This record gives sequence, C-alpha cells and structure tokens, in this order.
Amino acid sequence: MNIMITGGTGLLGKALIDSKERDDEVLVTYLGNYTVPDQGEIKYLKLDILDQAGHEKIFREFKPEVVIHTASIGSPDYAEQHQELTWSINVDGTDKLAELCDRHGARLIYISSNGIYDGDQAPYSEDAIARPINYYGRTKLEGERRALKARNLPAIVRPILMYGWNNTYERDNIVSMSLKKFNKGETVKAYDDVFSNSLLADECARAIWRIIETKATGAFNIAGAERASIYALLRTAAKIFGFAEDLVKPVKQGYFNELVKRPVDTSYDTTKMEKVLKIAPLSLVEGLTRMKAAQK
Ligand SMILES: NC(=O)c1ccc[n+]([C@@H]2O[C@H](COP(=O)([O-])OP(=O)(O)OC[C@H]3O[C@@H](n4cnc5c(N)ncnc54)[C@H](OP(=O)(O)O)[C@@H]3O)[C@@H](O)[C@H]2O)c1
Repeated sequence: MNIMITGGTGLLGKALIDSKERDDEVLVTYLGNYTVPDQGEIKYLKLDILDQAGHEKIFREFKPEVVIHTASIGSPDYAEQHQELTWSINVDGTDKLAELCDRHGARLIYISSNGIYDGDQAPYSEDAIARPINYYGRTKLEGERRALKARNLPAIVRPILMYGWNNTYERDNIVSMSLKKFNKGETVKAYDDVFSNSLLADECARAIWRIIETKATGAFNIAGAERASIYALLRTAAKIFGFAEDLVKPVKQGYFNELVKRPVDTSYDTTKMEKVLKIAPLSLVEGLTRMKAAQK
C-alpha cells in the first residue's frame, strides 16, 4: 500500500516510521530547514501543507491510498500569537488535503488533539462535547470537521499529551526536554494541577496502524492508563531514568505566564481504544520503561 504521512518528521511521525511493520511504500512530508535522506521504502519530501500544486502532483504520481495527516502547528501559545497562519495550516491545509483524498478515494486519518476539550468534564470519551478554550483547540476541532470531507473511511485520532524520543532536529516534548535538564543536574518546574493520562508516542502510532489494518472509522481518543499531573509524570520519568525525583519541583498553572490557558484535566476514557482497537493502555512506569529501553 502507498501511505503518505504529513509532518512525518515530528514526534508522532517518527514513532509511526519506527513502528512500521507492514511492507508499505511511505512518503513523508515536512516543512523543515533541514533535509532528511530517503531510507529504503521511506521517501522524504519537503512540502508545505499549503502547497496545493505539490500535493496534486503527489496524488497523481505517488497515488497514496492512505494519508496520515499529522502536520500541524502544535503550540497553543504560538497558535494564539499567529492566528492567521495557524488557521491556514491547521484548518485550510486539512481542508485541501481532505478534498484531494476525497477526489482520489484515499483514506484520511486526521490527527486531532485533546485540546478540543474544555478540561472541566474529564474523563472524556469520544462522544463527549468538544468545547475548546483556546485558539489552537478551535483550529484542531475545525480541522476535524474539514477532515470529514474525505468520505472513504475517514478516521480521527485524538492523542493526549505525548512523550517519547523525537528526531534531534525537531522540537522536544516534556519528557525528552526534562531528561536533558536532569542530565545537567538542573531542576524542572512542573504543574501539579494540570492532569492527563499521558501517552507514549509509539502507542499512538500502534493505534494508527491498527486503524489502518482494521479499516476502523470514526473518532478515537488515545491515551495511557493513568491520570497524573505533569509533576507526577516527570517525577516518574526521573525515577525510571535513574535521576533524583526531587529534581522536579511542583508549581501551579500560571507560573510560566503562558499566553493562553490550557484545559486543566483532559484525561480520557479509553474504553473505545481498548474494545475496538484491542490496545490496552500503558501505565506511566510501563511507557517510560519502554522509552528508556529504546534509548540510543
Ligand atoms: N505532541 C503532543 O503532545 C500532541 C498532543 C495532542 C495532539 N497532537 C497532535 O498530533 C500531531 C503530531 O504532533 P507532534 O507532536 O508529532 O508534532 P511535531 O513534533 O510538532 O511535528 C509537527 C510536524 O508537522 C510539520 N509541519 C508543521 N507545519 C507544516 C507545514 N506548514 N507544512 C508541512 N509540514 C508542517 C513539521 O515539520 P517541520 O518541523 O519540518 O516544520 C513536523 O514534521 C499534531 O497534529 C498535533 O496537533 C500532539
């Protein structure tokens, strides 16, 4: 099968490629001020999600049967400050891709976010009401609506806060960034009043491959097993990686003077993931232990 992954150099994109078991041809697109060489059946192409002609060419020549659309502006603060650009990438980019998928009969798997929820009604199952509290969340929710223009078995995947090994040229996540600081003996301040059931990026990738294999459709809230604060997540990470847990210091939301409020608790109810995709959520210890085992 021919599979295209937009934003395939990011955290989730890397996990998708690392966990690929099937014998597929994969075309990865990214924006980057860096160049990634092809690796066997995985080809890399610099292509802005807004480059319509470039995407038309891919659909004519590579003919993807499945498109996993991870490319996005993912920082709520950046999104708030750059609203026009964020709308064009997260919403218009998804809209145009969905139209192309629809025209060519390709399956679209759109990667949304826990940012579509207000954080006051956890745990969130797939049929909970989506009520974003910041601009980033609004663009991801509108992206979901646009993605449904692709009518051939569309699926929406909503990862919760993800951690794992990122490509070195890409942005860090909360765990990889904290490990760098622990290594230098530096402390990390983390919220003890913001909660989620954080997710190893590889497990999100596993859910996506399972959706592709089983032709599952609809929305999937993908998360780990444990509701924990970011503070608790990082203390567990320090412990698993052999650092002193007291390198992590608790602070309250607002401490970092963020531009926008984050939803306080977007923990998921993972019943659908477990029943339909047959994936058991990982505890923090299990997820972080797997991350440690994959350390290079
Ligand atoms: N990470 C999380 O905790 C989390 C939680 C919930 C939902 N999500 C969602 O999951 C998806 C993947 O997240 P991630 O953390 O893996 O992302 P990431 O590490 O930030 O990577 C984003 C990817 O998108 C690419 N990209 C950005 N703008 C682009 C553009 N205009 N055209 C083409 N490519 C572009 C980036 O390329 P360059 O770096 O080369 O610019 C990169 O490959 C996103 O849709 C995000 O909203 C993430």
